[in-house]
Parts: sequence; C-alpha cells; structure tokens
Amino acid sequence: MSAKLLDGASAGAAIRAELQSRVRALPRPPGLAVILAGDNAGSESYVRAKIKAAGELGLLSELIRLPAKLTTPDVLAHIADLNHRPEIDGILVQLPLPPQVDAAAALLAVDPAKDVDGFHPLNLGNLVSHRPGPLPCTPAGIMELLRRNEIAVEGREAVVVGRSDIVGKPLALLLLRAHATVTICHSRTPNLPEVCRRAELLFAAIGRPALLDERHIRPGAVVVDVGVNALTRREDVERYFPGDAKRLAEFERRGRTLIGDVDPRAAAALASAATPVPGGVGPLTVAMLMANTVAAAERRF
Ligand code: GUN
Repeated sequence: MSAKLLDGASAGAAIRAELQSRVRALPRPPGLAVILAGDNAGSESYVRAKIKAAGELGLLSELIRLPAKLTTPDVLAHIADLNHRPEIDGILVQLPLPPQVDAAAALLAVDPAKDVDGFHPLNLGNLVSHRPGPLPCTPAGIMELLRRNEIAVEGREAVVVGRSDIVGKPLALLLLRAHATVTICHSRTPNLPEVCRRAELLFAAIGRPALLDERHIRPGAVVVDVGVNALTRREDVERYFPGDAKRLAEFERRGRTLIGDVDPRAAAALASAATPVPGGVGPLTVAMLMANTVAAAERRF
C-alpha cells in the first residue's frame, strides 16, 4: 500500500482564503498579539509562521518579545495591557515559557474572549462540556484536515499517543465529541505497539523522532503525525528517507531535516493516508489560529 498524502499546506491555504471575506466585512482589521519569551528555536519559527499568515490575511499583528530571564509578574503585566487594548482581539502566549515563569498563571490571565489558543481553563471547560468557544488550534486543525479529506471519525477506533495539554488531551476530547472510540497512550503505557495497532485513526503527538514504526500501524490506518523533530545525523536521514534526494540536499544545505513521531517508511507502506512532516499538521495550526482570531474579532463587534 502507498499512503495517500494528507496535504496540510493546501487545506491550510483554503481555510485562510475562506477567511478573507470575513476579514473584509469587519470595520477594522482583527488584531493579534503574540507573546514570545526567551529564545527557543522551535517557537521562533512557529511564531514567524503565525505572524506571516496574519499579515497575508490583512490582520494587525504585534509581536511582543520578552527576555528569557523575565518573571511571572512581567508576563502578567503584558497580558493585562493586551486584555485592555481595544484593537487587540486575540492574545497568544507562545509555549513553552521559560521555566521560572508560572505558565498556568499566564494562561489564566488571558481574557477568555481574546484567548485564540483556547488554553484558558474556561475555554477548556467549554470544550469538555460541548459549549461554543475557541478550540486549541492544532487539535481543531487536525479535525478540519480529516473533514476536508472525507475521513470518517464516528464509530471508529482512535488512538492518541501523547497527553499534552496543547495537543493530546484536547484532541482526544474532539475525537470523542465526533463519536470516535478514543484511547490515550503515553510514556507509561505498556504494550504501546499493541494498543496502537487497534487504531483505525492513529495520532502521534509525543515529540520523539520516528518512535512509532511498522509495529504500531494497523494496515490501512489513517496516520496523523503531529511531531516536529530535527534529524541532525546524515546516517539517520539516509535511513529514514532512503533515496530521497530532496531530503538529502536539504540536510546538506542546513545540517538538519525535520521528521515526525512516525517512521515515514512505515507510514508510507502501511497507512491508507498519512500527514507529511513538514506540510501536514503545522499549516492547519496556523490556519486555525487565524480562524480563532477572526471569530474573536467578530464576537467583539
Ligand atoms: N507551542 C507549541 N504549540 C503551540 C500552540 O499551538 N500555541 C502556543 N501558544 N504555543 C505552542
């Protein structure tokens, strides 16, 4: 079997194009503020993509860069300011925050009406209890990717590997809401391959390069890979991407290439459909952030 590619780049572009008329219908551009603290390379590139997408859609965006040594009160002061500014409709605190900062306190401080990540406990409660509200961007994007590729969820066996607050937990709730039978696995799950092989829909969000392989994938499963990991050794690139000249060229140029949490050889061989890394889930996260920001602006008018 050769897996169908679930193309997140084109789905993300379609979602952003659909938002254009809603942006134009508003009396002023929706405003998105992003707080980025410290110098995490991953966060830098995610935030760059978010700011770029906001600009292309005609949103007002503001990047607030804070030093790695900031304190919890510093972050809270910035959030309070953004909560009060009328031209700001959406506030995003890029995670992870530096370790000395109380991240839970920061997420709690964001005005729930401006919480475009859906991370405020009030909005997480809305998600749990099926009430309207912003949904966390990556899980919402994954559901949108499934919908746009006409992949059924209702009544199917879904296995989510990873229990983070950002992806695993909210994704499991959305799958449950869509009537899947949901299993959540994590680092202490015994017999991980066996549990994963039950999955008609397999979601990998653990942050470990190529952890899931042919032992974990049921033939014909749909595999959604949320992982973004760097390969920095040539032998790993040759092993996971055999005969892939483009990958090797990228590695030669940049000294690294990205890989997900699923061995791409196993996904290509066994899955009926699979997301690439990059170009799978990532662009959906960005598109859903735009959607949440536009929706937040619409509600405020
Ligand atoms: N860090 C990794 N993913 C995300 C995300 O979707 N939102 C925020 N705020 N931080 C992240």
